[in-house]
Parts: sequence; structure tokens; C-alpha cells
Amino acid sequence: MSARRAELGQFFTPEWVAQALVDRFYPGLGMWDRVAEPSCGEGAFLRALPDYVPAIGVEIDPDLAARARESSGREVLVGDFRSVDLPFRPTLLLGNPPFKSAVVMQFLDRAWDLLPRDGEVGFILPAFVFQTASAVEALSARWSMDQQMLPRNVFPRLSHPLCFARLTKGRHGLIGFALYHEAAAVARLETRYRALLAQGERSVWTAITRAALEALGGEATLREIYREIEGARPTANRYWQEKVRQQLQRIGRRVGPSRWALASGYQQVAA
Ligand SMILES: C[S@@+](CC[C@H](N)C(=O)[O-])C[C@H]1O[C@@H](n2cnc3c(N)ncnc32)[C@H](O)[C@@H]1O
Repeated sequence: MSARRAELGQFFTPEWVAQALVDRFYPGLGMWDRVAEPSCGEGAFLRALPDYVPAIGVEIDPDLAARARESSGREVLVGDFRSVDLPFRPTLLLGNPPFKSAVVMQFLDRAWDLLPRDGEVGFILPAFVFQTASAVEALSARWSMDQQMLPRNVFPRLSHPLCFARLTKGRHGLIGFALYHEAAAVARLETRYRALLAQGERSVWTAITRAALEALGGEATLREIYREIEGARPTANRYWQEKVRQQLQRIGRRVGPSRWALASGYQQVAA
């Protein structure tokens, strides 16, 4: 493989794969939609779209752009998707970007700028893009995301697990992802609370909430409890605070406005 091919991630989606993805996930596309294939290579997705759906390709390699233009009959711009001007505001960005995490994230940033609210992205992606809780949590603050595994051997000699990811701008929700918010919340906890989990405590949030209350002398305001658990690190994600409130209902008793004490019967566990 040439260095340029490797650098630009020039692996082309087989015709039948592009067609099957369009048929399966986008059967309702119409003439009111505006589709762009951001790094279209030879234009597999452009060819898979029905003729009545307005679509355009973008490709950084002029030779490939010419091939895509000729084979699809669509307009194909030569340029870098991260900065090129499109002749319309797309409602769907569909395709197969280069398989590099940093480039995928830059493509998603550009997609965010280009799409209207509820606009969609449908990308074939290497699963490693979603391998950490922090990366998925950051994406999920802006997009709803739904991913499904694809067999990697639809691409000859590919060694990465693959998925087809659909993201919707400005919506919330994760489908096909489990424990990502929880893992991110745990990662933010102070070491001593993480140690409780490492010791095999089963009910993570009960242990943490109880240990926090004990560290605060058995009684504290909600704000003090949050501060105790959060440590010095501020976080925009409020998932864990809901968990703490649920636990206080179980193991605490309200002793004043927003003030909680450990209910009798709960033993000391924190050092
Ligand atoms: C993985 S291939 C996929 C091609 C096509 N989407 C398909 O599914 O067959 C990625 C393509 O992106 C092109 N490319 C790489 N970086 C680009 C960029 N910043 N802007 C536009 N195209 C880019 C490469 O030249 C290559 O053709």
C-alpha cells in the first residue's frame, strides 16, 4: 500500500455494504434531504443513494474525486472536509471517514457546525473510537448515539473491529453502549472512594454515599456530601449526583432542609 493511501485511510466501502447500510438505516430519505459524503473516495455511498435525494461528495484526493464524480453523476468537491464550504446545509453526513481517532473527532466537530439540530451523521467507524468512557461521554453531551457492530471482514485485511454509528445533533441518549456514564463517574471519584469499589463493594453508590456521610461526621448537607464525593474536581456530568440522592433516600434520614444523617443500622465502613 502506498504511503499516501495509508496516510489518507483510503479503504473503500464495498458497493453492497454502502447499499445495505442506506437501505437498512435510511429508507426514508427524500428530495427534501441534503446528504453529503464527507470523504467519499470513489463515492460508494453517493452511488447507493436514490437519484432523487440531493447529495454531494467531498474528497481530498483529486483523482478519487474525479472517479467519484464520474461514477455517481454527483457533484464532488475537492477539499478537506474539515474546512471545505458546502453549497447547501446538509441534513445527513454519511460515509466512511479515515480510521484515525483524531480525524474522526475533527470530522464530528465539523459535522456539528454544519448540521441543523436533529441533523444526522451515519459513519462506518473503527470501534476504538468508542473505547473509553471519557470519549463517549464527551460526544454524548452533544449527540445522541446509536452504534451497531459490523463484521470487520467486509474490508479485506482490516484488523479493527468496526461499527456503524448514527449520531443525532442536539439529542441525548446512548444505544449500544453500556456503563459508559457510570465508568466516567467512577473515574472522577477520589482515590479513596474508588478504593471501595476495588475492594469489591457491590453497591457502588451505597458504599460511596455512606463513606462520604461518615467522613463528614454522620450528618451533612447535600452540597457538603457532593463536595466530599466530588473532591476538588468539578464535573459537568450530573449522573452521579442523582445516584447519591437515591442512596440518601435508602440509607439516610432527612434531618433538615437538604440535610441528611446516616440512618441507624448502617455500620461504619469508611476508614
Ligand atoms: C476510508 S476511505 C473511505 C472512502 C469512501 N467514503 C468509501 O466509503 O468508500 C477515506 C477517504 O477519505 C479521504 N480523506 C482523507 N482525509 C480527508 C479529509 N480531511 N477530507 C476529505 N477527504 C479525506 C481519503 O482520500 C479516502 O478516500
